Formats: sequence, structure tokens, C-alpha cells
Amino acid sequence: MCGIVGFVGHRQAAPILLEGLSKLEYRGYDSAGLAVRDGEKNAEVVKAKGRLSFLYDKTDGGKALVGSCGIGHTRWATHGEPSVTNAHPHVSGNCRASGSGEVESEVVGVHNGIIENYQELKDKLLKHGYRFYSQTDTEVVIKLVDYYYKKYRIGPIDAIAKTMVRVRGSYALELMFKDHPGEIWVARKDSPMIIGINDGESYIASDVPAILKYTRDVYYIGNLEFAKVVPGAVTFYNLDGDEVKKDTTHIEWDAESAEKAGYEHFMIKEIHEQPKAVKDTLSSIFQEDGIKISLPSSFLSSLSQIYIVACGSAWHVGLKAQYTIEDLCGVNVRVEMASEFRYRNLPLAKDSLVIIISQSGETADSLAALRKAKEKGVRTLAVVNVVGSSIAREADDTLYTLAGPEISVATTKAYSAQLVALDSFAIKLALAKGTITEEKAKELIDELFSIPAKIERILEDKGRIQWFASKFSNIHDAFFVGRGLDYAIAMEGSLKLKEVSYIHSEAYAAGELKHGTISLIDQGTLVIGILTQDDLYEKTISNLVECKSRGAYIMGLTSCGKYSTEDSADFSVYVPRIDQHFIGSLAVVPLQLLGYYMSVSRGLDVDKPRNLAKSVTVE
Ligand code: AGP
Repeated sequence: MCGIVGFVGHRQAAPILLEGLSKLEYRGYDSAGLAVRDGEKNAEVVKAKGRLSFLYDKTDGGKALVGSCGIGHTRWATHGEPSVTNAHPHVSGNCRASGSGEVESEVVGVHNGIIENYQELKDKLLKHGYRFYSQTDTEVVIKLVDYYYKKYRIGPIDAIAKTMVRVRGSYALELMFKDHPGEIWVARKDSPMIIGINDGESYIASDVPAILKYTRDVYYIGNLEFAKVVPGAVTFYNLDGDEVKKDTTHIEWDAESAEKAGYEHFMIKEIHEQPKAVKDTLSSIFQEDGIKISLPSSFLSSLSQIYIVACGSAWHVGLKAQYTIEDLCGVNVRVEMASEFRYRNLPLAKDSLVIIISQSGETADSLAALRKAKEKGVRTLAVVNVVGSSIAREADDTLYTLAGPEISVATTKAYSAQLVALDSFAIKLALAKGTITEEKAKELIDELFSIPAKIERILEDKGRIQWFASKFSNIHDAFFVGRGLDYAIAMEGSLKLKEVSYIHSEAYAAGELKHGTISLIDQGTLVIGILTQDDLYEKTISNLVECKSRGAYIMGLTSCGKYSTEDSADFSVYVPRIDQHFIGSLAVVPLQLLGYYMSVSRGLDVDKPRNLAKSVTVE
């Protein structure tokens, strides 16, 4: 969702801020703005609705904004429509009608997250003479800081601490105080923010790619902590205003991996990076001296129930893992959407495990679900891609996927890395439970390590999917059907198609179709059947034939050797053979390509689909 950047150093801030914001564009936004200070002078604010390029043009690539201390923001509207007035930065005084220009205000700031009690705070501030120019909750929090700052004539430390105690919700805040030139103050609760220091200069960002070019050693601000950032140094404080000591974390990702490297879009680049993401993840787990998943075998052997909790594609990973874990380990698995789990009073057995899956490690619902599980005293395991993210830090145990930075809003390589991370967990659990032998485990691990080369083979043949996508790019509806593990893959294929191509699509358990949804099948409706499971193959074929006899055009996605698919399907796609538990890692690739090429054929913004954000940090 919204992106935050900040810079204080010896160079002009605005070009650095604009560049940082461009690295966060993938998160989704509808307006952008900068505030820059030149020494003791007042901050100059510039905002623009729409693409970052408008802000770029307005400021002549940042050159028109002079000063070496500044903050920047891309906004994804929550409170108030996308507009220049509602765009950040916000100020404690009055904003000009244009939203841009020098501001007299005491406090200028940007904010990610949601202030839940903003109306109550706004009413209080109205009584104290404050007037509001925007509809945002951010303006309220900036004015609240100003209120405490002026009322008690206290410095930023106490004003920020008082504000943090008073507001409810989530925030990553960046503030500049008129009386404190050369300083940026930041505060955080449940919304990510990092600070990097290099060569006497300081960088702030809500997400790693924005500062990778400058430094890979970053500080993570803890929950309910705040900090003063000056050129080349940072001081952290807790809510009592006491200093907190911190060490930096080294980010392994390199700057190139967050660039397109000659590909037309991040999504296709990341689809091609899947062999590496899978291999790196597997290699980090299966090492010479054992399986590197920190849960002890003694805990796993007595485990009676697993809850997998996640959102979107990560939830689909859970659905797929459910089949593998139940089959290999004989342990019950429930898969829950984090947004539902967090508000349900699900009785959780003490000897159970809650697994939270999240690429970003910052998804608000998944984080809340994790906290709920911890409150109930259940052990938690996070499967996360972003090192140091909130979910990674708060879970009892963390299993990192090594997909590298994923920029495209539609996840591909992180999803694939999550699939194999959960498969690896299933093998470790099965060994602990004694449901497989060491020999069988070795066989399964070898199969897992064959995935990268097999994905390469599928990618070599992507031209066929491209052709198919261009032929069907005008359709209005598509149905993805499958049984068992194939159903979980159908869910992901359907989401990929709808999120990047805006084609309505639904995924159904093939056997469920005839209980209502089949009434939507008409002449020419595209039905994609996923048929990788030997024992369910005939059943799903029968369901596809039912669709075909009602006029549907059938695409069959199966494994090499199942050539009888062509008797029923109009178009068949084959993936290499592999152990049935892991074939989802192969079957999903043609579906990702289908979504991608449909989007390209329709001329859409593949990497930044409308209304979507990469990391959903609000409810
Ligand atoms: C999928 O393409 C989406 N980007 C979305 O469903 C995503 O998987 C979901 O929002 C969860 O995100 P997370 O993995 O960062 O928690």
C-alpha cells in the first residue's frame, strides 16, 4: 500500500526521494508528494494526483525543490478520495488550495496505515481551534502532534510519545518539525519502516527496494518505537522516551534483483526467476547436516493439529499444503483466511501449530492472526520472504523463503518458494511422525530438487500459452476446475487471471460445479481443467465433458503421458512428471503465464493492476 521515503544528508533530497518512491510504485498508489527543507527555511511541499511522473514533472525531476532533508509519500486512498488535497505530506497549519508551496506549519508529515480513532481526535482538535483542509486521518495525527508540541512546549520526543499513546490503529509516520532543521522524526506501529545509514547520510523507507541502491544494512524500528534521524545517525526511543539500542540487519537482496533486467514487466521476470527462488529456498532448508526448520522433532512428533492462516495467494499455498501434509504426515490441517481467523473464536488445541504464510510479512490480517494465535498460547511458525518483517519477528519460529524482492503485485516466485517451503515442512513433519522412512524422505527431497529444471522446461515452451492468451484475450469469464491438490492450484490460476487481466474468473472443485455454477457454462465459455492427480483424473475429465457438452471451450492442463486429455480438451498443456505431491509447483507456471499474457494482450498495466496493492497493511 502507501510508500514512505525519507532522506537527510549532504546532497539534494528531492531526486533521491523521487527515485525511492519509484521503487515503491509497485505497492500501489493514486497520488504522491514531497516535502523538502533547505537548512532552517520552511518546508516546501509539492503534491500530484496520479502517476509519480506527474510529481517528477512538477518538480523538474526534483531539481526545483532545494534542500538536503526531506520526506516523500505515495498514497493509496483509505480516508478521502484520491486528490491533491488528500495526498501527503500533510501539515499542521493550513494547506494551500494547490496543495503545493512553502508551508509555515510547525509540523509536516506523511503516514502509512490507518488511525482508527481519527474522528474522536479530530473532534477534540476542532474544539481547540484546529481547522482541517483534507478528509484524511493523517492530517488529524499531524495536527495532534502539533497540539501536544505547542500545548506543553515540549520537544519532539514527548510530543510524539504522547501522540502514540493517544492514537489507535497502525502507522508508520515521518515528521519534520520547523524548529528542528536537519532532523526527520519517525514512529511506527504495525506498519513497516526501515532506516539505512551510509557515508554520513540517512535513508528512510517503508520497504527495502527504495534504499537498496544506497545501503543493505538497515535498522528495523520496533513496534511502538520512534526515532530521530539526522545525517548519518539515528537514535531510537521507546514510549517512555528512553533511548533504545539497536543493531543493523544485513539485507542479502541486491539492487539488480529489484530491477527489470531487460524484461518488459516484473511479473514475467519474476516468473522466470522461479527456478532460482525454488532452488535457493530448498538449498537453505536441506543442508548437509539436516533439515533447517527450527521446530524440534519432539514437538512435531506430538503435534495433533495444524492451522495454516494467510491471505490471497499465500492462503492458496496453505490449501495446497493441506493436501500434502495430511497425506504424508496424517495430521489434520485447517486452512483459514487470516481476515476471518482473527475475528473467530476458534478453539485452538494446545499441542497444535499455527503456520502464518506471508510474502511481505506485513499483511495486517495475517499479523493480527499471528498475534491472536500467540495470545491463545499456541506455537507459531511464520513462512516469510521479507527478512526482519513484523510477522518474521513476532512468530515463535520463522522459515524464510528465498525468493528475493518481489515487485509485481501479482505474486509468482514468492508463491512458488512458499509451496516448496511447506513441502519441506511436510517432509520434516512426516519424518518426526514416522509416517515416512528416511529413504522415502530422500526420494521426496530429490523430487523437490528436480522442480527448478522442470520449471525451466515449461518456460521454454511459453510461446504456446502466449498464442492461446492472444486468442482468448477478449473473453469475459473463465472457470478453473480441479479436484484435490489440483483444486488448490485452480484457485491460484484463477486469482492470477483476474488480478492482472480483469477477466472475471472463478475456481471450483470440479465435482461441485454441477451443484449450481454449471448454469453459467455457455457456448464458448473458457473452462480450464487441471488434471495432474492420477487417482482423480477420470473424475475431472467427466466434469470437463459435462462442460464441453454445454458448449464450453476446454483447456486441459495435465502431466506428460496423459495424452488422452486431448480426447476431451480443445487445447492441452503438459508439464513434466514429478511426485504427485509436488506437481502443483509445475502446473501453476502455465497458469501464471496465461494471466500474464492475457494482461499483455489486453494492454493493461501488468505489474500494477488497478485497485491492488502489493502489501496490504490495512484491514
Ligand atoms: C496475489 O498475487 C496477491 N498479491 C495477494 O493475494 C497476496 O498473496 C496477499 O495479499 C498476501 O500477501 P502476503 O503474502 O504479503 O501476506
